Amino acid sequence: MTITATLEVFRCGPGGTSRRFEHYEVTVHDDATVLDAIEAVWAHHDRSLTFRHACHHASCGTCGMLVNGVEALPCIADLSAALRQRNPVRVEPLRNLPLAGDLVVDVAGFFDRMRASTMTITRTAEDGLPIATDGGGTPAQPVEVAEGLARFNRFENCVECGICISACPTMATDDRFRGPAMLAALGRARAESDDPQERERLLDLADGEHGVWRCHGAWECTTRCPQQVDPAESIMQQRRDLLRRRLRGRVR
Ligand code: SF4
Ligand code: FES
Repeated sequence: MTITATLEVFRCGPGGTSRRFEHYEVTVHDDATVLDAIEAVWAHHDRSLTFRHACHHASCGTCGMLVNGVEALPCIADLSAALRQRNPVRVEPLRNLPLAGDLVVDVAGFFDRMRASTMTITRTAEDGLPIATDGGGTPAQPVEVAEGLARFNRFENCVECGICISACPTMATDDRFRGPAMLAALGRARAESDDPQERERLLDLADGEHGVWRCHGAWECTTRCPQQVDPAESIMQQRRDLLRRRLRGRVR
């Protein structure tokens, strides 16, 4: 079975020049994702269309964009569901990051911040790991964890997709705000560190007017994150830790 869909695609030149929407009709399998439809546009209509993708299964974080105005990973966003929301399906680049061209944003500055956070690649596994079910913030489903798994390491949740940066209203008003992904990464790095001095340094990095105190508590980052990183809760936890440090002199 196939379906025919029209995509309303944001197009622009390098650096965001000549901004416009263009419409393309594609025929794809009825279980196609939005990314499948974008690839069909590229294959059958316009090979100059610029977009990012790699894994096609929500693990590389490269394909993040707006689908019908909401941040999502199009590689796991169901096209039929998107069509029921809006016809034609609109796809646009992420917000709050510099436009590179068409559906691609410049993530260099975002990656610099993630590097500065010293986020670990692996973390200590916990019971009841959440799993992503789609790119639109669907509540996490706990999975069965084998007995004893908590003693092992697993990969960090964050795939550095930039979706939380796009969804965050504070990022839209303060480009010096460290942002939900970096702040969550600082919290993770501190939780994994057993070096007291490093823990203090990481908490210092999260502090300040462009750090955790700048967050307005909109919680959009947590709602939109496709990997259930929960940056907003991490920000609030670091605020609590900073207050404890001020009250007691240091955080244990
Ligand atoms: S915290 Fe979530 S939304 Fe933000 S970059 Fe990481 S995976 Fe993406
Ligand atoms: S293509 Fe890798 S997350 Fe979408």
